[in-house]
Amino acid sequence: MAELPDEMDAIDPAEAGGPEVLQLVRRPVPKPGAGELLIRVAAAGVNRPDVLQRRGFYPPPPGAPSIPGLEVAGEVVATGEGVQPELFGQPVCALVAGGGYAEYCAAPAGQCLYVPEALSMVEAAAMPETLFTVWTNLFERAFAREGDRVLVHGGTSGIGTMAIALARLFGLELIVTCGSDEKCRQAEALGADHAINYKTQDFVAEVRRLTEGAGVDIVLDMVGGDYLPRNLDCLAEEGRHVSIAVQRGATAELLIPKVMQRRLMLTGSTLRPRPAAFKSLVADELARSVWPFAEQGRLKPIIHATFPLADAAEAHRVMEAGEHVGKIVLTVG
Ligand SMILES: NC(=O)c1ccc[n+]([C@@H]2O[C@H](COP(=O)([O-])OP(=O)(O)OC[C@H]3O[C@@H](n4cnc5c(N)ncnc54)[C@H](OP(=O)(O)O)[C@@H]3O)[C@@H](O)[C@H]2O)c1
Repeated sequence: MAELPDEMDAIDPAEAGGPEVLQLVRRPVPKPGAGELLIRVAAAGVNRPDVLQRRGFYPPPPGAPSIPGLEVAGEVVATGEGVQPELFGQPVCALVAGGGYAEYCAAPAGQCLYVPEALSMVEAAAMPETLFTVWTNLFERAFAREGDRVLVHGGTSGIGTMAIALARLFGLELIVTCGSDEKCRQAEALGADHAINYKTQDFVAEVRRLTEGAGVDIVLDMVGGDYLPRNLDCLAEEGRHVSIAVQRGATAELLIPKVMQRRLMLTGSTLRPRPAAFKSLVADELARSVWPFAEQGRLKPIIHATFPLADAAEAHRVMEAGEHVGKIVLTVG
């Protein structure tokens, strides 16, 4: 085992608020519990849920650290009981329920993927949250298969850019929505088949036009509210609607007969509170089905910007400004 310090730098705001609450503080280095690894963090991904947590709207689930950060990459510097000691010294990335904005982070071993040479630590840290989310929702909950037509809102978001990458690899036809013409062009340059500017175009009419009236097989929705009935109007018969966020509101009014007549399926999920056993199963599936593409350099996240951990506030300001394309990542050490 490496010689480890007792304390580390971390971001752990005492109260909810604006980006300015994200200040460096000293915290004890976590001890890896049974089945866990301790990672010396090289980079930590920033995700929209971190912003919600900072503002006080998305508290960590029971047992999770108060330190924000849902994904990290770095070197294994200690292993807990029941974890193969051979993992010591290995480069890994991990999905965590919190604790990423820190110099050290404990992660369940089952939620780690090793970092292949084709990925930098920054790239590896930018993948777990969106990869686990898009994979489970698109492929497991909505049964995406080659040839399916899919509509994803927020095409240039962290989630949207991962959806574009997976759609390319797994043969999905992807339509995305974005808030500007420039973002639409960027989404298409990344591999989206079509991008609709939702501020200047009616996305329902555009989806109908692009699919010659047939509609899409799947909608992956991070908008909610009044988008829900419009999303259903985009779906083909037997279409599947997956909710992953409610940025425009948590309630919606639907015409139930439309669901019945077109045999639609409505589902959704939140990743963070799911048990480690579930996340480990997903990691196994990703290691088999998706990670070989990462090893070959065919799956990489889109990195918008990196900031040192001490500048986490600036990273959140950039995310909230909403001009980013892809991921924002904190570098540590
Ligand atoms: N359920 C889960 O397990 C889970 C896991 C991770 C993330 N999420 C959610 O997924 C969403 C994306 O996360 P992220 O980290 O990728 O965030 P992000 O990069 O900040 O992206 C947010 C996106 O929302 C889009 N958006 C906002 N209002 C919209 C509207 N009215 N119509 C279309 N798009 C709209 C923005 O598009 P424009 O900038 O083009 O307007 C932007 O691309 C967040 O809401 C997050 O909470 C859910």
